Amino acid sequence: MTTTTSAKISVQEVRKTFPLKNEEFVALDGVSLDIADNEFVTVVGPSGCGKSTLMNILAGLETPTSGRALVDGKDVVGPGPERGVIFQQYALFPWLTVRKNVEFGLKVAGLGASERRERADYFIRIVGLEQFADALPKMLSGGMKQRCAIARAYAVNPSILLMDEPFGALDALTRVTLQEQLLDTWSREKRTVLFITHDVDEAVFLANRVVVMAARPGRIYDVIDVDLPYPRTEEARLSPEFAQLRNRVWHSVYHQAPGIAAGR
Ligand SMILES: Nc1ncnc2c1ncn2[C@@H]1O[C@H](COP(=O)(O)OP(=O)(O)O)[C@@H](O)[C@H]1O
Ligand SMILES: [Mg+2]
Repeated sequence: MTTTTSAKISVQEVRKTFPLKNEEFVALDGVSLDIADNEFVTVVGPSGCGKSTLMNILAGLETPTSGRALVDGKDVVGPGPERGVIFQQYALFPWLTVRKNVEFGLKVAGLGASERRERADYFIRIVGLEQFADALPKMLSGGMKQRCAIARAYAVNPSILLMDEPFGALDALTRVTLQEQLLDTWSREKRTVLFITHDVDEAVFLANRVVVMAARPGRIYDVIDVDLPYPRTEEARLSPEFAQLRNRVWHSVYHQAPGIAAGR
């Protein structure tokens, strides 16, 4: 297939199978999705529907069995500095301070010491960790570690952020705070974001567009536009428009497999 596209991210008829005993397990089938520059897209769906597989393909950590994944019009052939990846587990170096963790990718990119420090401190401030810049990860709460991971991802200036259930391990209140902070960061430092979650509220609160996936085989089941203005505040979260969208997404997730609530 030679479809050309101006989309920032383009997934075209992707199929991914894994060997399973004597058969093959279809993790993704016929998945097509275009994401525009600076768009914030969330993906929600029951556990095992292929969300992480899709993200890993875009991150360059898995290859599609057939179909294509393109970033900036080019086939993804491996990880790249234009794609920052954030996982559920806090992937920080435990022996480095917050600042050194954030500086790490900048060092790899060859920036000098003072420039590294300046950039790191800017993003540490943006995620509200300035008082912990010299702390080691073990001194941070889960939410703070994830903020550090976000600062680290932003610091290397990727044009795309791929986030796989980054707030999944956090308590509800911390989650809400980090959602607001992520949107605040995104509004100041626009990026194209693909954010995976199994939380319907989170999917709606963050996104320009919510992609609902279904399992067996993993596929796109529905795509829902979220026409709520940014900045999104507590007020937006409690609005009737939000409730309506949440119900619509919930309905889409729930009714594909009655009895299996999203991700549980
Ligand atoms: N490396 C692998 N080998 C075999 N099966 C896999 C592999 N990775 C994922 N799968 C299977 O593919 C399906 C989708 O997995 P995943 O993308 O992790 O789903 P999700 O993130 O939506 O929970 C699951 O059933 C999982 O067991
Ligand atoms: Mg997953």
